[in-house]
Amino acid sequence: MLKIALTKGRVEEQFTALLAQRGFDTSPLENKQRRLIIEVADQFEFILAKGPDVLTYLTNGVVDLGIVGSDILMEQDAESDELLDLKTGQCQFILASTEDFDPDRPGRKVIGTKYPRVAQRYFARRGQDVAIIKLEGSVELAPLIGLADAIIDITETGRTLKENHLVIYDRLDQVSTRLVANPLALKQKRDEIYRFVTTLKGGN
Ligand code: PRP
Repeated sequence: MLKIALTKGRVEEQFTALLAQRGFDTSPLENKQRRLIIEVADQFEFILAKGPDVLTYLTNGVVDLGIVGSDILMEQDAESDELLDLKTGQCQFILASTEDFDPDRPGRKVIGTKYPRVAQRYFARRGQDVAIIKLEGSVELAPLIGLADAIIDITETGRTLKENHLVIYDRLDQVSTRLVANPLALKQKRDEIYRFVTTLKGGN
């Protein structure tokens, strides 16, 4: 049995669809209600978690694999072995703000974000010193309520930005869902893990 930490929400939904496409009965995941540990096909035990916690579980050796967005990997710099880009959960880091924002205006900008390290690195590359305000969600609010000059966030469909009248000023890295492994599990359960990788890739 492979223990797999799966990021709740969009990553989970698109991964469940991929697993169904590969012929697995995913009804336990679809009908999980509030349960957090779900067995699928007598082969996998999925542990539903927030993205940053997926990496914490891996680092602490309590799961074999993790399914998590590359946004979280970029932010956390965690020690884990990336096995596969699942190509699901595709989105992009962006710099966005209200229409009147001037990215070239001199002076120290205030940036709202769930990704302080990604944001810090982005502005450091541009030689700009910024003040970062760490947020936990609904990041788009920050420039609207006067908390920040702009945001560094991820966008998938672009709807949240559009419906809140925010404009994209720069596009940063692309993001997608990755399969990552705990290095010890990779040694101990090598065959089982690589069979799973082959299956996810669309092989036998
Ligand atoms: C993410 C992101 C944006 C939204 C963008 O937030 O931070 O707010 O998705 O998606 P869209 O381009 O498809 O509109 P998420 O939904 O994960 O929730 P959060 O704001 O609570 O972090």
